[in-house]
Amino acid sequence: MPTVEELYGVWGSEEYDRLDADLERSLNPRGLASLYDIFGALGVGAEDLVLDAGARDAVHAIEIVRRTGCRSVAVDPLPLHMNKARRRVAEAGLEARIDVVQAELESLPFEDESFDYIWCRDVLNHVELEPSLRECHRVLRRGGSMLAYQTFATERLEPHEAQHLFAATASRAENMSPEFFERTAAVAGFRISSRDDLRTEWREAMLEQQTWDAVADLLSLARMSRLEPELVERYGGAAVEAKRGGLLWGLYQILGKTCSSIYLLERSA
Ligand SMILES: C[S@@+](CC[C@H](N)C(=O)[O-])C[C@H]1O[C@@H](n2cnc3c(N)ncnc32)[C@H](O)[C@@H]1O
Repeated sequence: MPTVEELYGVWGSEEYDRLDADLERSLNPRGLASLYDIFGALGVGAEDLVLDAGARDAVHAIEIVRRTGCRSVAVDPLPLHMNKARRRVAEAGLEARIDVVQAELESLPFEDESFDYIWCRDVLNHVELEPSLRECHRVLRRGGSMLAYQTFATERLEPHEAQHLFAATASRAENMSPEFFERTAAVAGFRISSRDDLRTEWREAMLEQQTWDAVADLLSLARMSRLEPELVERYGGAAVEAKRGGLLWGLYQILGKTCSSIYLLERSA
């Protein structure tokens, strides 16, 4: 630990000013669209059928089909999401190329080896991991690949922050560990062909491109803390906790308390 004198000496130094200036330079973080490039680089083409596992409103299935010309099946267990997905697919005029199917990853209603590729973005925190990955492995053709984008806890996430974050975002604690993910992927039969730790890149890109307002999120959190009893009475505890979980998700990502990673998993030929 520095002495007070040493600390103020550092703060007042020219070196410290140069450090400040250095940190103002962009590190050219990859943005969200980089995930499509990584998926496209697998060789996805017009002849292929892609499973969008945990598709929500099918925005990604739509983008993948537009970019690659493939066909897709968008799967999600929630009727609310399925309705949105059907509406979006219809608006995009892609009903002939995208099917929307209500199902859980743990039990997929498809034949063995039905899909050439699987896209699974930001879903696996919620699921029972081993049956879900076994099902993905089963429905993937031999030699096919699955892209899994997933956020994990880092050692910077304190235990009580972890407990609160996981509860507020319906995330299974064990799934927030990359070691558990990798072990389970292997048990399900997958070979991990690559792991790419994005760390804070996407959030940096969002801040630099001004597509995410971290200051607004911090203000919302502060206001929620001050008004908590009133907000709970007005909107209910579930809404307040869900809002807090969503805000913390992004802020913990930029603080490095969580780390987002992209895995490419292969089913052997
Ligand atoms: C954070 S959203 C991500 C949605 C979309 N993949 C994206 O990246 O925008 C998580 C999604 O996982 C879905 N989900 C939750 N449990 C699931 C399960 N057991 N099987 C499949 N999807 C599930 C939710 O309904 C939700 O649409």
